[in-house]
Amino acid sequence: MTSFIQITDTHIVAPGALVCGQSDTATALQQAVATINAKLPQLGDVDCAIVTGDLTDHGTPEEYAHFSALMDALDLPWRAVPGNHDRRDVMRSAFSDAPWMPGNGPIQWTHDVGPFCVIGLDTLLEGAHYGALSDEGFAFLDKALTAMGNQCAIVATHHPWMRTGIAAMDADMLQGGARLLERLQAHPGPVQMISGHAHRAMTCQIGRVHCQIAPAPCHAVALDHRAGQDAQMVLEPGAVTVHLWQGMDEGYLTSNILPIGSFPGPWPFHE
Ligand SMILES: [Fe+2]
Ligand SMILES: [Fe+2]
Repeated sequence: MTSFIQITDTHIVAPGALVCGQSDTATALQQAVATINAKLPQLGDVDCAIVTGDLTDHGTPEEYAHFSALMDALDLPWRAVPGNHDRRDVMRSAFSDAPWMPGNGPIQWTHDVGPFCVIGLDTLLEGAHYGALSDEGFAFLDKALTAMGNQCAIVATHHPWMRTGIAAMDADMLQGGARLLERLQAHPGPVQMISGHAHRAMTCQIGRVHCQIAPAPCHAVALDHRAGQDAQMVLEPGAVTVHLWQGMDEGYLTSNILPIGSFPGPWPFHE
């Protein structure tokens, strides 16, 4: 059974700095890496980690260097797509040696895991908090899906298409995502979209497409369904997501939210 781990919205800043004066994102990532490394012996075949954007808070070379140093401790290869807090060319320079990093254009890639293929798409629109998939990105997706036949497709983006119910976040989601969803619905195999950006664990089903947003290791966006409210950060427990491939039936992923930290137990259930 193959799995991969999704880490999202790490928002790394300069060493010693806090995001908004409150969130120690470096410690959160350090603890996330330690949690994953400690859990790996119990997870079997873990293919890689996928980082779905907002690696850094401001997209500076110093922040990417800090992110890279923290991720060096992870006992897994990793790959990433950018989020609205990233800067495409700075990110490209920082990870130019990575095999998944394209030499130019959108930071997008495919990763064939065997029973399923992950398609990483770049939804960063520099200068905006909302996201968009470029024509180039759509053409890349279309070509990748066509080549896959009926293989299961996992599409990894920073910006989700699903609505969250948090008004300020829904104003900053993926623009023009209907075209993306239409193309995904036409894929003959199972199809799932995994995203970040909303800093909360959420799932929904849109037609044939299962959509999921992963929680961040650091701060969350406060759950608030009232209209007209500004988004606010809250220091709820951080988490990463373990996506386990289930090969029976048509095939699907079981997505398990793993809280960061070490906790009492485990103990047997019998007395
Ligand atoms: Fe974020
Ligand atoms: Fe974001």
